[in-house]
Amino acid sequence: MKKLSVLISGGGSNLQAIIDSTKNGILKGVAEVVVVISNNPFAYGLERAKKENIKAVALDYKNIAKTDYDNQLYELIKKCNVDLICLAGYLKKIPCNIIKEYKSKILNIHPALLPKFGGKGMYGHYVHEAVVKAKEKKSGPTVHFVDEHYDTGSIILQKEVPVYEIDTPDDVAKRVLVQEHIIYPQAIKKVLEKYDNNM
Ligand code: GRF
Repeated sequence: MKKLSVLISGGGSNLQAIIDSTKNGILKGVAEVVVVISNNPFAYGLERAKKENIKAVALDYKNIAKTDYDNQLYELIKKCNVDLICLAGYLKKIPCNIIKEYKSKILNIHPALLPKFGGKGMYGHYVHEAVVKAKEKKSGPTVHFVDEHYDTGSIILQKEVPVYEIDTPDDVAKRVLVQEHIIYPQAIKKVLEKYDNNM
């Protein structure tokens, strides 16, 4: 059984989708979430983890120095002996030492079809606003590996959804989120299978 860490900053609906798939879906018997880490102590995702009896840790980004935060994050991930680090609505940059040590083992989900609508400042609602403003005909989530830049790591899985002329950014966000919950567990499975074949 592979061990997943999930890093969050907010509601954690993707975290929930991953947990559910380890219990009843495509990750059952394949992986388990062993730790959920949030930079935001008020993130609802922490409650979701606690309800599932999963170790939930808040590293309070605002009240500690950045180097201390980075060190604590590193130590925690090492201590939990995780196979993959899954970013699910996590809004902080991953420190370089973690990126190097966990090369091809850190995944992120982005709510647009990368390489379009990615980069610094392109997160959450901003992404869907930009998609609607650009009059795109399609959008959809991307799961990709994390490298040292924003949203540039190689793509693992994408899923297109239509964007209609009458859509508001909220309409697009809702349609994309439904697919996020489906493709994130699929992408994790894909990476773990590849990882097993290379062992
Ligand atoms: C999702 O749209 C994800 O693509 C983005 O942040 C949002 C997180 O939502 N990176 P949730 O916290 O998983 O509900």
